[in-house]
Amino acid sequence: MTYREKFFELKKIDNEYLNQTSIKSLLIDNGGFIDFFDLLKHFDESIKDENKLNNQINRLTSGEPLQYILGYAYFVNSNYKVSPDVLIPRQETEELAVGVMTKIIKLFGKDPKIKIVDIGTGSGILGIYLKEYFPKSTVICTDISLKALEIAKINAEEHHVDIDFRNGDMLEPIIDENNISVIISNPPYIRSEDTVSKQTLKYEPHLALFASPVTKFYEELLTSIDKQLLNDKKYLIAFEIGEDMEEELTHILEEKYSGLFYRFDKDMYGKTRFLYIINNKELLDALN
Ligand SMILES: C[S@@+](CC[C@H](N)C(=O)[O-])C[C@H]1O[C@@H](n2cnc3c(N)ncnc32)[C@H](O)[C@@H]1O
Repeated sequence: MTYREKFFELKKIDNEYLNQTSIKSLLIDNGGFIDFFDLLKHFDESIKDENKLNNQINRLTSGEPLQYILGYAYFVNSNYKVSPDVLIPRQETEELAVGVMTKIIKLFGKDPKIKIVDIGTGSGILGIYLKEYFPKSTVICTDISLKALEIAKINAEEHHVDIDFRNGDMLEPIIDENNISVIISNPPYIRSEDTVSKQTLKYEPHLALFASPVTKFYEELLTSIDKQLLNDKKYLIAFEIGEDMEEELTHILEEKYSGLFYRFDKDMYGKTRFLYIINNKELLDALN
């Protein structure tokens, strides 16, 4: 059977997970093609490995996420290895990565030599992306999951970046650090199982999702300020947050960190998904 025949055969099947994007991705992967246009060039050739493709289609139609089937996910500008031990990178997190990159340039210059820490790194996407952008900087990526760190290390190797990976609970792996300029984190922040899709609940690591209370990880990470791990002249803390968390986090900041300056930002859907914190009022413009 050719790629063309398979494409139109699959398009006729009524399944919520079988759509134009997933079909194209599986066919591109099967043929080892570069992109959709490369697939089109080979559209009338026989499928290279039909058994593998049929097996992948069965997994997809049963609800397994496409990225776990392919073994990789696209993030900002390149592919990263993923497995069921790591969260599949989300679009909001791409917005966080790019938002932090532009804020680092405004705060520290284009080619800064600073210390950046990504806590709860999962597949390593945030730390690796920032290290690629700021090669002179030191990047430390931590996670409590050793299995996640194994994936993150492979991604760092594949992206040819040198990252200091550390295992442990929240601030514990960096407790002896000082002079940190940037802490970035997309910690677990899901309140309850009812608010995630059945697919996420079934396939993605619960360690990456749930927090009780939801502010737990943010409160813990903010103690990096009290513990003087950060550069006291200038630092940036950047969090991805749940869309319903602004009020709770504002309360914590006003109550415990009233001397700081912060800004909540919205994602492309207009939902409040990011929190940026700095310690210097003169730098507030950098957060815009
Ligand atoms: C929401 S995922 C984010 C993964 C990745 N940074 C991303 O944005 O796709 C949260 C990550 O935090 C890790 N994690 C959960 N509890 C932790 C803890 N107590 N200390 C450190 N990391 C933790 C999970 O293993 C998971 O990789």
